Amino acid sequence: MQVSTETLFGNCYGKYAIAAINIWSMEQIHALFRVAEIAQAPFIVQMTPVALDYGHAIMLLSMISAAAEIYPDTIYSIHLDHGSRKAALNAISSGKYSSVMIDASHETYENNVQITSEIVEKAHAKNLEVEAELGVLSGVEDGINVKAEDKKYTQPEEVEDFVSKTACDSLAVAVGTSHGAYKFSGDQGLQFDILEEIQNRLPGFPLVLHGGSEVYKDEIKRINASGGNLATDARGVSADEIKKAIKYGICKINIATDARIIWTRVHREFFMKSPEQFDPVIPGNTYLKELEKFYMDKFDLLESTNRVRDLES
Ligand code: 13P
Repeated sequence: MQVSTETLFGNCYGKYAIAAINIWSMEQIHALFRVAEIAQAPFIVQMTPVALDYGHAIMLLSMISAAAEIYPDTIYSIHLDHGSRKAALNAISSGKYSSVMIDASHETYENNVQITSEIVEKAHAKNLEVEAELGVLSGVEDGINVKAEDKKYTQPEEVEDFVSKTACDSLAVAVGTSHGAYKFSGDQGLQFDILEEIQNRLPGFPLVLHGGSEVYKDEIKRINASGGNLATDARGVSADEIKKAIKYGICKINIATDARIIWTRVHREFFMKSPEQFDPVIPGNTYLKELEKFYMDKFDLLESTNRVRDLES
């Protein structure tokens, strides 16, 4: 059953987090719904504008609605990730989404307030919620590459003013994560002092962590052992950091890169070991199984496993 993100965040705040899984293919949608039903974990299925260009909005949304029919005992929201003004307006008028993100974080503060406010007004008129962003994450996402030196942590002293002026429903904060496979390469990590101050200023308000992939070392090693060339010194957000962040009001954790890495590892290993093969269904089945295991582990880590019953009662 599709529900609002307000329903999900109202239940999880401070206790567990909702995995917001970026999708762009049938395999991901199928694995996600199948495993969420088994785990009884509520989740958010989300698409960026680049995913929508690749898979087409009608195709991806139809596959989501087919998955919901195949796995009826699921509770989920459909979300537009990193929406431009145009993409957000399209998503709102489609009537298919639970919520949209308007990403005007690269704009000046005043422009971010203005663009976000306009989207909130239009979305609320149609009963959708809006995620906004303050601060800038580094890394590569949707073809946009933000260099490490251009990242900007969220300024805690701006958050109350921003939320009250825009009336957004959740806030993505830049507290040390980045998008993509090349995250922390030294001893950097999440900036819990900033996160704590944001929570103190916005008690009970749902916060969103972008860049939530862990970038497993073993996956990178296996990719490189089968012909890949990914940097080995980077790491993502650790399990301990994720658990701690939940206590500070992080309700939604965005995950895209880890699924890309699994896709790369499965297919590189398969074609390296079986160069005579050309049937996509064979590695496709392995990919589905590996994705399912990955999503199951994430639900456990975020402690969203078995939470569907809280939402049904
Ligand atoms: P990762 O690149 O860490 O998976 O983050 C994805 C994300 O934040 C999507 O908005």
